[in-house]
Amino acid sequence: MDRTLVRLALRSKVPARGLAVKGWVRTRRDLKGVTFLELNDGSCLGNLQVLVEHGSGPASALGDAGTGAAVSVFGDLVDSPGKGQKWELRARDLEVLGPADQGSYPLQKKRHSDEFLRGIAHLRPRTNKYGALLRIRSELSLLIHDFFRERGFFYVHTPIITGSDCEGAGELFRVTSLDLAGPILDHEADFFGRPAYLTVSGQLEAELLAMSLGRVYTFGPTFRAENSNTPRHAAEFWMVEPEMAFADLEEDIDLAEELVKALAVGVMDRCPEDLELFARFVEPGLMARLEAVAGEPFARLPYAEAVLVLERSGAEFEYPVGFGLDLQTEHERYLCETVFKRPLAVFDYPKEIKPFYMRLNSDQRTVAAMDVLVPGVGELIGGSQREERLEVLESRFADQGLDAGRYWWYLDTRRFGSAPHAGFGLGFERLLMLVTGISNIRDVIAFPRTPRNLEF
Ligand code: 4AD
Ligand code: MG
Repeated sequence: MDRTLVRLALRSKVPARGLAVKGWVRTRRDLKGVTFLELNDGSCLGNLQVLVEHGSGPASALGDAGTGAAVSVFGDLVDSPGKGQKWELRARDLEVLGPADQGSYPLQKKRHSDEFLRGIAHLRPRTNKYGALLRIRSELSLLIHDFFRERGFFYVHTPIITGSDCEGAGELFRVTSLDLAGPILDHEADFFGRPAYLTVSGQLEAELLAMSLGRVYTFGPTFRAENSNTPRHAAEFWMVEPEMAFADLEEDIDLAEELVKALAVGVMDRCPEDLELFARFVEPGLMARLEAVAGEPFARLPYAEAVLVLERSGAEFEYPVGFGLDLQTEHERYLCETVFKRPLAVFDYPKEIKPFYMRLNSDQRTVAAMDVLVPGVGELIGGSQREERLEVLESRFADQGLDAGRYWWYLDTRRFGSAPHAGFGLGFERLLMLVTGISNIRDVIAFPRTPRNLEF
């Protein structure tokens, strides 16, 4: 007999005989003559109430199974006389698939701290909050594919193992098949015959593909060994990276704004119940924030002006502000939360603080870079128009002390049929922080990778 999802049972318009439901017991209440189980199968936030009559076959099968146990119930969906739910399932047959010891099952309480739940990442998806988060994560992934597909972008897969550092920031994890117990690392003897790393970004390869297919995007895991133990950095995170041939910086910002808006609208449309949970328990202003992200045009401001706004604000910051210094999260959040009160695209950053591939502006001091900053998070997106002029690109390599020869294939796209092009990277976990109001990146991915954290 096919199992009926709790989501569908709860939505039923009519009573139904003979449903099979399987899930995990969230709570058990023993009353006079009956036991009520709240059953959750992960298909939605809601639980299905199961009624087990004492003295019946299902009651003896249930025994003392309680919170955390996996059970299979066959029964009839009937109007629930009790308050709080429309339907309940009257058990006719019941099987305990997997009991859970009540003394040691860690999810007995109604609410647990985020910290505690991080320590049991293998079980926390069974809580309301993480179940909701993971369903939203899934819907947002699919919305991203819908968005690009509707606009003629091709979904491409860029390599995870790479020989180059796209961001030039030296935050690479090494990949090797050598026995590391030996005294020296002999690259020649290693698997690829040269140093290999986990990619920090699929951009360089996405550029090659955009210069063939026109409009492409990647959506995959990226890795950074930056040892920054912040609530916004993970060592492994997912990035969405569109790349467009024949596009400039303005079109790049337009696409970024359109994407973020479409995702805000889409998630409100597809996940109202799960979002409501975050609005109630995590971030009271969540729905207003999402409405604002979806509805109001993003502010747009050159970096030089952003610096002036910060300098004149009179606000006290931990990190210094000044032309040539990178904006820190506190500055980014101040700009979009206090000054503009909405998402903000900052563009034209000083060339010294940005990677080699960004297009040099005619002022020779700034590059056609853009960051999208959002409330509660700070930087959500980083992108740029790419340097398509061969000589300028070569001199940028030299400026940054990079060996252009190793990027000969990248330079080839500037030798043969070069054209203006632009793209960006959106940090998927940061998007989830924006959408749920969760303030720590460790709580928006099932099994976070951060410094000294690799248990699950
Ligand atoms: O600004 P970033 O470093 O840009 C790039 O990697 C470009 N190659 C992207 C491109 O143009 N195709 O990273 C892009 C975004 C950031 O804005 C941020 O949201 C996220 O990736 N990000 C991180 N998210 C979580 N943990 C980290 N350690 C992150 N580093 C960057
Ligand atoms: Mg960035």
